[in-house]
Amino acid sequence: MSEEMTETQEQRAVGKERPAERARAAPAGPPTAVVVRHHVPGQPRVSRRAVLRIGFWTSLGAAISGATASGVSLLYPRRVSGFGGRVVVNAENIPPPGGKVQVPEGRFWLVNLTEEQGGPGLLALWWKCTHLGCTVPWRPTFVWPDPASGALKQGWFRCPCHGSTYTDAGIRVYGPAPRPLDTMELTVAGGNVIVDTAKVTKGGLDNAERAVRT
Ligand code: FES
Repeated sequence: MSEEMTETQEQRAVGKERPAERARAAPAGPPTAVVVRHHVPGQPRVSRRAVLRIGFWTSLGAAISGATASGVSLLYPRRVSGFGGRVVVNAENIPPPGGKVQVPEGRFWLVNLTEEQGGPGLLALWWKCTHLGCTVPWRPTFVWPDPASGALKQGWFRCPCHGSTYTDAGIRVYGPAPRPLDTMELTVAGGNVIVDTAKVTKGGLDNAERAVRT
């Protein structure tokens, strides 16, 4: 046998050595993952930029819609009921002449004044003391001289904090309070009383004259 290799034998020998040579030539380091995107035939290609753009405009549209809705809500506020809004006292809950009823929902006393008390008519007295704001209760058994006649009278609005005392019409007769109790706007409709607790008039000696006849 000849020691010389033919050209074909030499090529085969080189081919066998290639994988080993490639392995020696490869750089050392962690394996690298290669992501191959597959496109499903028949479906449109959507780029990442297009997705981001759609998301941006959708978010912007939602923000504008929310702001517009808030603006419209401010322009057309919902009707407020309870304290700060209108309170309805049904006909069956209106006190008889000379009587009074506490309406916690509106923080007022609904009083039905007789002629002797300065009426006749209905008055809504804000129960907040004009001295320092304590809630003023009706004291049916409390006796105090009536400045109008000088005679003792039973039944007064009397503040538990510092003793300010008010008549049935909320007129101050004693104590540190600087003025009579404040009144709220009152109207009568269909036999019911409607008190607008947002419309307050400062208490004065003319409280009883504001009484509304039914
Ligand atoms: Fe009513 Fe002072 S808070 S008398």
